[in-house]
Amino acid sequence: MRRPLVAGNWKLHKTIAEAVALADELKEGIADVTDVDIVVAPVFTALAAVGKALEGSSIALAGQNCYPEAKGAFTGEVSPSLLKDAGCRYVIVGHSERRRIFTESDAFINLKVKAVTAEGLNAILCVGETLEERNDEKTFDILTDQIKNGLQGISAEMMRQVIIAYEPVWAIGTGRNATPAQAQEVHCFLRRLLGEICGANTADQLRILYGGSVKADNADELLSQRDIDGALVGGASLRAADFLPIVRHRLK
Ligand code: 13P
Repeated sequence: MRRPLVAGNWKLHKTIAEAVALADELKEGIADVTDVDIVVAPVFTALAAVGKALEGSSIALAGQNCYPEAKGAFTGEVSPSLLKDAGCRYVIVGHSERRRIFTESDAFINLKVKAVTAEGLNAILCVGETLEERNDEKTFDILTDQIKNGLQGISAEMMRQVIIAYEPVWAIGTGRNATPAQAQEVHCFLRRLLGEICGANTADQLRILYGGSVKADNADELLSQRDIDGALVGGASLRAADFLPIVRHRLK
């Protein structure tokens, strides 16, 4: 059985003090939760302080992005090893905001997945189609490219450190989530595709999260779908009152 995972992507929000205050609230709010993996991804500058605040809790820390090289003349970048040093166990790669705003390619994202897993960290690889692509009935083609290229050269062994997040671009920050049926259709497709790439057994173990306007009032319906193993939450992860009910929703 796949263990559910709920991750909060705090994006470009919160000072160190604000991030620590939220971490403290979450730590207290999930003290009795034992059946869900919980992850938060603060901005880089708050990672170490949030990591310290979360000591003694089961909440894990994630970087929102990384550069695939370990060190060198790469001004402004952060490597997986430095994220590990700051306390991270996960790194989000290929978020649609990075693909769109920072024009990251599948090939570049693939290097990140390799660098993250090589460092012993878990990569949360984000994929998703735009509204135009969905309307043009290209959703499955786009996702196939993103998955196949993003996971190029990743061994079945390394796949144990990979989590997929399906985040339809049209659902991110719009308040318009995919319906449970729409999301399940894609998750089922992704699991079959992953089975072709790394074998059905590995694909069966792989966690596929849904992201895009997940809120307390739609989490239960979305996450109770057969192939949806958790959520990657943006806006609703910024307040404990919004995030905790998502973590605590009735999981399958
Ligand atoms: P929202 O939950 O705000 O739609 O954001 C989703 C997301 O991008 C998480 O990575």
